[in-house]
Amino acid sequence: MTDHILVAVAWPYANGPLHLGHIAGAYLPADIFARYNRIIGNKVLMVSGSDSHGTPITIRADAENTTPEKIFSRYHKDFQESWKGLNISWDLFTTTDTENHHEISQRFFTNFFNNDLLYEATASLPYSIKEKRYLPDRYIVGTCPNCDSENARGDQCEDCGRTLDPQDLINPRSITDGSVPEFRERTHFMFRLSKFENDLKEWLKDKEFWRPNVLNQTNGLLEQGLKDRAITRDLSWGIKVPVDGWEDRRIYVWFEAVIGYLSASIEWAKEIAKEPDKWKDWWNKDSKSYYFIGKDNIPFHTIIWPAMLMGYDEDLPLPHNVPSNEFLNLESGQFSTSRNWAVWVTDYLSRYDADPLRYVLSATMPETSDSEFTWRDFVRRNNNELVGTYGNLVHRTLTFLQNNFDGVVPDVEIQESSNKLIEESNKALITSGEYLSSCDFRASLRTAMDLCQKGNKFLDEREPWKAIKEDKNHAAETMFTMLTVISALKILFYPFLPESSQNLHGYLGETGLVESNGWELNTPVSGNKLPKPKPLFKKLDEEKVILDETQRMNKGN
Ligand code: MF3
Ligand code: ZN
Repeated sequence: MTDHILVAVAWPYANGPLHLGHIAGAYLPADIFARYNRIIGNKVLMVSGSDSHGTPITIRADAENTTPEKIFSRYHKDFQESWKGLNISWDLFTTTDTENHHEISQRFFTNFFNNDLLYEATASLPYSIKEKRYLPDRYIVGTCPNCDSENARGDQCEDCGRTLDPQDLINPRSITDGSVPEFRERTHFMFRLSKFENDLKEWLKDKEFWRPNVLNQTNGLLEQGLKDRAITRDLSWGIKVPVDGWEDRRIYVWFEAVIGYLSASIEWAKEIAKEPDKWKDWWNKDSKSYYFIGKDNIPFHTIIWPAMLMGYDEDLPLPHNVPSNEFLNLESGQFSTSRNWAVWVTDYLSRYDADPLRYVLSATMPETSDSEFTWRDFVRRNNNELVGTYGNLVHRTLTFLQNNFDGVVPDVEIQESSNKLIEESNKALITSGEYLSSCDFRASLRTAMDLCQKGNKFLDEREPWKAIKEDKNHAAETMFTMLTVISALKILFYPFLPESSQNLHGYLGETGLVESNGWELNTPVSGNKLPKPKPLFKKLDEEKVILDETQRMNKGN
């Protein structure tokens, strides 16, 4: 049975380039999951886009004395380049600045307004006397009342994840000039989030398959009780509030950005599929949606967005799973755009290939706890695991076939010991597929690597380089078995290493896309002549990479 799977991925703020933390946190797991679902025959729609509104963009524009448009177009371009280089397989990567998105966001607003889910209330908001304006939440920093972190922002504390209001902060100050804001009464539209508390609790009851970190954070917030939230802001950049007299306000960025999942699906149907109603295939009760996000985004996807979907008139499905990751650190420090402590994706791609990075980030993916990227680990995993274990197995087999069988797949009778290994290959496909379905990406990758090790061991025991002189049939049988194992590896690694799998697909004499192969083991066809292979991966010089990269990082690239 084919399923419709919506792969919904966090919309990155277009206020700086993408770094490895973003990729490990959301984009790579989403891509692995999408590729796996496509190859097993599911219908996947994978969407996201640049989050082009909100104060992250205006702060950057102010700092550079330029416009928000210039900022978000610059980084939208960087994002597109990064996706292309890393082979992230979007169906659509758009922006929140499209007419379509503005319109659909305003439709939600109006719908909620008409259904009494919005009301006007005065809130006490930070006002800068010097600048004569209300300051957005993110322009205020101070001490977190929850965890005492001194760098909490007026919308959220990044250290403990708690969502905040500026007046929750202890010792609040403005980031523009360090001045202490005055809190003034100002009328805004509030969303009746509190109304959804019980429905959300009910909805979460059968979500015991969610990752514990996601469930705990969500349940914790529900236990504290939900407060209604202001969803308009004093800003001039963003989506207009569709109510007369509110021309100088904008819709709160988080309220509209999450609507992007729906508006992007609609845009895809209209502009790419050219079937305007086709988005509905991914937005009905039979479809399943997966939201790939970093842990700082959890409340917006497990509470606010589901509440919005419950409140909206059209009967739209709630998230099926929100497999949020923890954080990836860089050489034991936190990735930080402002401190320039990062490895930028486009910069990485100017020096190395995509697959080694995809491999290392998958092997160390912060699925259940924070993890760390180090250049030494990157080189070692590349050299020992990709080149030494997987690449070597493939290359030994394919070159031996060229040198001793003229590249022709032999015709053999399979022996018992080979059958065992072939059986292991089939088992690996089943096990690893189960892991992928449940978003256990590291475990899936480990299954593939285990099979490489079994293959190498088998080859070493069989010693075809000796057998070829005494018993050519025996060597032929070994080769046939190894080709079978390699075919399985090509599939097992495909979601993680799409480029290498496609290359291997070709070296195994196949034409077309590896994706159309299906998640199954193809037995090699006797008599087929295989082309001359090239090594799948390149060995890196450990000390040189460490030296180069350490220098670059300390210079701030
Ligand atoms: N722009 C936000 C961030 O980078 C994520 C928005 S996800 C969305 O943290 F769903 F709201 F779009
Ligand atoms: Zn905190």
